[in-house]
Amino acid sequence: MKNYPNVTIFDHPLIRHKVAILRDEKTSMKEFRELVEEITTLMVYEAFKDVPTKKVMVKTPLETTEQTMVEDDAVSIVPILRAGLGMVNGVHTLFPTARVGHIGMYRDEETLDPHEYYCKLPDGIENSIAILLDPMLATGGSAVAAIEFLKKRGCKDIRLMNIIGAPEGIEVVANAHPDVKVYISTLDRNLNENGYIVPGLGDAGDRLFGTK
Ligand code: PRP
Ligand code: URA
Repeated sequence: MKNYPNVTIFDHPLIRHKVAILRDEKTSMKEFRELVEEITTLMVYEAFKDVPTKKVMVKTPLETTEQTMVEDDAVSIVPILRAGLGMVNGVHTLFPTARVGHIGMYRDEETLDPHEYYCKLPDGIENSIAILLDPMLATGGSAVAAIEFLKKRGCKDIRLMNIIGAPEGIEVVANAHPDVKVYISTLDRNLNENGYIVPGLGDAGDRLFGTK
C-alpha cells in the first residue's frame, strides 16, 4: 500500500495483543465490547497529543500554580451506527465531557454501497475536532459518506478512527479526503469476495451487540 501522510497505523505491542483476542471467534460479547473500548482509548491517547489546551490557575496546598488543561469542547465524538457506538466509551474515558453526534449508515450486503438512515450532530460541532468512529474500514464507502456529512456541517478537523482497516478502504478514504487524519490500530491483508476484511474479526456490529 502507498504511504499516505495523514494515515497512521499503530504498531504497538499492547494494541496488537488486544486485537489478537478481539479477532478470536471464541471471545465473548462482553470481552469483545471491553476490548473495543480499551483499544480505542489507547489510540486516542496517542492520536491527540496536539489537542487544544488552555492555561488555568490551580491552588495547591502550597501555592498557586499555572497549569495546562484540555480546552472545553475541544472534541466531538461521532460514531457511525451501529458498530461505532462500541468505541464511544473508549473516547469518553479521556474526553468525559465530549458531546456525541450519530450517523446511521449500513452497507447493502449485495452492492456494499453505504445507505444513510440517521444523522444528528451536536450544535457547534464545526468548532471542535470531530472524532469519527467505526471499528471497521472495509471498502471505505461508509467512512467517505460520513466524512462528507461532517464537511457539509462545516467540520474542518476530522479524525477517523478504525480498529481494523483494509488497504482498499484506506486508499479510498485517503484519496477522497486527503485532509482527514486517519488512525487505524491494525492493517489487515485485504477484502474477501463478500467485502469482509480478512483475517478481520467478522461483523463488528453483530459481535458487539450479539445480533448473530
Ligand atoms: C460495517 C462497519 C462499517 C462498515 C464498513 O457496518 O461497522 O460501518 O460496515 O464497511 P465499508 O468500509 O465497506 O463501508 P454495517 O454496514 O455492517 O452496519 P452495522 O454497524 O449496523 O452492523
Ligand atoms: N464490516 C464488518 O463489520 N466487518 C468487515 O469485515 C467488513 C465490514
